[in-house]
Amino acid sequence: MQTDDQTSPAQALDAIVARAHTEFSEIDNAAELDQAKARYLGKSGALTNLLKSLGKLPAEQRPTEGDRINRAKQAVEAVLQARREAIRNQQLQAQLSAEVLDVTLPGRGMGVGSLHPITLTLQRIAALFRSIGFAVATGPEIETDYYNFTALNIPEDHPARAMHDTFYIDDDDPLLLRTHTSPIQIRYMQEHKPPIKIIAPGKVYRVDSDATHSPMFHQFEGLWIDEHVSFADLKGVVSDFLQRFFEREALQVRFRPSFFPFTEPSAETDMGCVFCNGDGCRVCGNSGWLEVGGCGMVHPNVLAHVGIDSERYLGFAFGMGIDRLAMLRYGVNDLRLFFENDLRFLKQFV
Ligand code: FA5
Ligand code: MG
Repeated sequence: MQTDDQTSPAQALDAIVARAHTEFSEIDNAAELDQAKARYLGKSGALTNLLKSLGKLPAEQRPTEGDRINRAKQAVEAVLQARREAIRNQQLQAQLSAEVLDVTLPGRGMGVGSLHPITLTLQRIAALFRSIGFAVATGPEIETDYYNFTALNIPEDHPARAMHDTFYIDDDDPLLLRTHTSPIQIRYMQEHKPPIKIIAPGKVYRVDSDATHSPMFHQFEGLWIDEHVSFADLKGVVSDFLQRFFEREALQVRFRPSFFPFTEPSAETDMGCVFCNGDGCRVCGNSGWLEVGGCGMVHPNVLAHVGIDSERYLGFAFGMGIDRLAMLRYGVNDLRLFFENDLRFLKQFV
């Protein structure tokens, strides 16, 4: 018999389900929810205990009561499942708003590298000279005073040393950053017997900096030593190279008397200005001509330094600025742009 102050088993079950509902809805993380679940459905959970106590009921009441408990269990499980999903959704939303992703941003992409315009120019120069039988030689950028000056007929305390503003490694040390590619001539002639026919490209250094002078720049040296090499050959090789390099058959080239300690006679090579075709403009200082390098017949004193008989052999040498040639070919008006590594500039040469 049931009295008013006693709750029926059905009401008790409803109360358990209602409590579970309230309890679960206040939980907002999965671990706590699992603990709460155990209080109802765990080994000694409220509903499990009720199921266990079924055995104490009279046999005829067991099916109805068991059925009721099972439905309460299902109800609690449904509430639990709904809460689980709600928590998962909340977490997902929190994560999404924490990791905001702007899908309109440009992708990172895979940058394809390319060669530097000076490297491209150097390769072009080497290919043109290879095609007329010149080999390519190189030498060290840190040089001794002997190779950079003395062996090139520039003795110590000679005023010609002042033509180059030299970076010395140490005041007491004879080591320096080479100021031109001419020391490669000496190293090559020490190792090889004539006939010699090389170009020698590389970095050189001078205390020098403005729109057409860089403290680090590139030169290439040409050297041809044989029994019958004349100044006429020098003019032919250099003029032909410049015409092919600039792809202008009619390009004017002139040889202006000059002085270098290591050549005699010496000349400065000028070419017709590629910007104004010789009419005169800002780039060529209105002269119509641009200086591209020095040249001359190798001085007998230089040949003597490397043990080559100047009675039998003679030849010519020339040295040109690679960066200057690149500027003129590509129409770049400031040499320093090549070394600032601004990709907006460099990408134009891909
Ligand atoms: C020489 O360096 C000689 N060794 C060239 C030479 C070789 C003459 C063989 C005779 C025989 P010069 O100092 O003029 O010469 O430099 C040659 C070229 O290098 C110049 O015409 C110019 O194109 C380039 N050059 C010189 N200084 C700079 C600089 N600071 N920045 C960029 N280019 C330069
Ligand atoms: Mg010069």
